[in-house]
Amino acid sequence: MKNILLTGGGGGIAKAIAPLLPADSYRLLLTTRAGDALASFCKEHSIQAEVFSADLTVQTEVEALFEWTNSFGGVDILINNAGVSHAAASWKLSAEELHRLMEVNFYSAVRCTQLALEGMRGKGYGRIISISSVVAHKPAFGTSAYTASKSALEGYMRGVSMDVSTKGITANTIAYGYMNAGMLNDVPQAILDDIKKGIPQDQFGRPEQIVAAIHYLIESEYTTGQTLHINGGQWMP
Ligand SMILES: NC(=O)c1ccc[n+]([C@@H]2O[C@H](COP(=O)([O-])OP(=O)(O)OC[C@H]3O[C@@H](n4cnc5c(N)ncnc54)[C@H](OP(=O)(O)O)[C@@H]3O)[C@@H](O)[C@H]2O)c1
Repeated sequence: MKNILLTGGGGGIAKAIAPLLPADSYRLLLTTRAGDALASFCKEHSIQAEVFSADLTVQTEVEALFEWTNSFGGVDILINNAGVSHAAASWKLSAEELHRLMEVNFYSAVRCTQLALEGMRGKGYGRIISISSVVAHKPAFGTSAYTASKSALEGYMRGVSMDVSTKGITANTIAYGYMNAGMLNDVPQAILDDIKKGIPQDQFGRPEQIVAAIHYLIESEYTTGQTLHINGGQWMP
């Protein structure tokens, strides 16, 4: 039984993929800032998971999170999924907003990765999977901060993969296209219609497709330092 720590556990995509991760293969450890609400959601939807509240922008809370994971035997698979988006033309983007995006999308993943690696290096096994976006490769108007934060995350994962290449640990990124959950629900319908026209498969992504990519990266020990694009053909490397 491997332990998966999924950050951003209270988000739309996490809630959609949590029930699809087989409970007989994985113990699911979820973290969110709103633990009680997520624990109730899991109970209501018969999702077997342990839940911990932490703000990942606060180092001491991340340390407490990893101490908690140790009571289950540590983290075998870390999915850095917590993320925020913000739309603003680059000339209107405030330093505070850019800082917030970098804190959540990049530095929080760095904090979690560093602490996860402590245990993984001891075990000689680990999978780090960070969640990026097609927007990091094909930006749209107003996405400079989001694009920068996700690009930093992808570069960081490539660097980490080198540091642990002989330790049984892989570090990869999944760059989602537009997935039918979570932050997509905040996008106005007219913009969604427009985005869909640019997706060759003519549909938004589904949770099962995310889980298939996660399974692949868990199973494939020879895949490291990569960005796996799942976007219905919207962008190609
Ligand atoms: N949906 C898409 O189409 C799409 C496309 C490309 C990439 N992505 C990426 O996929 C990931 C999940 O997105 P989503 O659509 O599920 O978004 P979402 O519903 O907005 O969920 C985002 C999650 O991030 C967490 N978070 C934000 N700030 C945090 C902090 N300071 N500490 C801890 N957690 C924090 C939130 O936690 P709380 O539960 O505490 O609020 C929330 O659970 C993100 O990294 C996003 O960039 C999504």
